[in-house]
Amino acid sequence: MLSETNVFSKSIKIYRDDEVLPNFCTFAAKCMDQFSPADPPSFDQKMMQCCLRLARQAQGYTAPNPMVGAIVVQEGTIVGEGFHPKAGEPHAEVFALRDAGDRARGATVYVNLEPCSHYGRTPPCANALIEAGVRKVVVGMVDPNPKVAGQGIDRLRSAGIEVVVGVEEAACQQLNEAFVYRILHQRPFGILKYAMTLDGKIAATTGHSAWVTSSEARSVVHNLRASCDAVIIGGNTVRQDNPLLTSHGHGHNPLRVVMSRSLDLPTEAKLWQTSEAPTIVFTEVGTNSALQNQLRQQGVEVIELTALTPSEVMTHLYDRGAMSVLWECGGTLAAAAIGNGAVQKILAFIAPKIIGGATAPSPVGELGFTQMTQALALERVTWRSVGVDWLVEGYL
Ligand SMILES: NC(=O)c1ccc[n+]([C@@H]2O[C@H](COP(=O)([O-])OP(=O)(O)OC[C@H]3O[C@@H](n4cnc5c(N)ncnc54)[C@H](OP(=O)(O)O)[C@@H]3O)[C@@H](O)[C@H]2O)c1
Repeated sequence: MLSETNVFSKSIKIYRDDEVLPNFCTFAAKCMDQFSPADPPSFDQKMMQCCLRLARQAQGYTAPNPMVGAIVVQEGTIVGEGFHPKAGEPHAEVFALRDAGDRARGATVYVNLEPCSHYGRTPPCANALIEAGVRKVVVGMVDPNPKVAGQGIDRLRSAGIEVVVGVEEAACQQLNEAFVYRILHQRPFGILKYAMTLDGKIAATTGHSAWVTSSEARSVVHNLRASCDAVIIGGNTVRQDNPLLTSHGHGHNPLRVVMSRSLDLPTEAKLWQTSEAPTIVFTEVGTNSALQNQLRQQGVEVIELTALTPSEVMTHLYDRGAMSVLWECGGTLAAAAIGNGAVQKILAFIAPKIIGGATAPSPVGELGFTQMTQALALERVTWRSVGVDWLVEGYL
């Protein structure tokens, strides 16, 4: 098993065409040290897990592209590695092949996603692998993108390269679940995260909510933000909490999004400070033009929609390239987002404390259900402790 400690996190550097690329090989070597000798996975599984670790270094930076890592192995030795750092930059296979140089000839390449077969912003990776003369390619999962969808694998096989598909497939699918969802549904993948007390409250009756959970749980949330392209809250949460919504140094900062129909928002708020991270406010046409002007002068983007719904906002974010969107709102907007099909995954942090209060807010507002048989049952549910709190995850 790989240790859960992310000892490999690097800041992302984007390379110019004329810059010498770094040798990444040390990463996979370190990764190999992380496997338990008592329960060793197969060599292919180890290599694929290292690819996933490599890929995850670019978490939050690749949208609308997937996270991909690649490793080149020559006679049991890692001779090249790379990951896709950002849309528009070369793909993982290209970095790994450049890293390996001549040692790629006759080698085995591991990659967590099927090599592409089409000309996008960069040429096809399947061609690069063929030209490099590799002998075998081990693929984690087929690319669901209809422009690829098995054609990359077919092209490699047609060139006489042995291709193995599906090593560590479940882990590969999970890493890129937002990419897969976006491709298949033409919508960003929505994650609803909330923190509640054991008696199901997300704030006291006064609206005060700092803090429901421990610093360990909040640190997990900062990491989660770093992995998402946008984070959304409603007007009430701005008024009550005045949140910053950044990753607090845990990586990339998501686009911060406020949905407010009234635009009755404070003139001073942490979200209006856009030097650290950008902010968009979605509102309805013609609302509070004085505040709109003030926000725009501060660098906040204001977008007026005729119908301010979670669905419309998700469409807009999709058009901007967002892959994963984190809903960190209160129960009112959370219910609207669930009702609009804008939430695919739930992360519920549960703190072992009781706040009480008959009118204290709960994580999900009115869904219109009257019978318990109508309750939305989560699938693929997992849970773990985080500090003194619990984190329950599942899919709608
Ligand atoms: N513990 C947690 O995880 C957590 C997380 C977030 C918030 N909270 C707490 O939750 C409380 C606020 O909860 P809330 O439910 O009132 O706030 P909310 O869901 O964040 O915001 C509701 C607001 O969203 C705006 N909105 C825009 N379009 C909407 C639509 N289509 N449907 C519904 N709302 C829309 C409206 O803002 P306008 O009124 O401006 O038009 C509405 O009043 C606060 O006490 C906060 O501290 C706790």
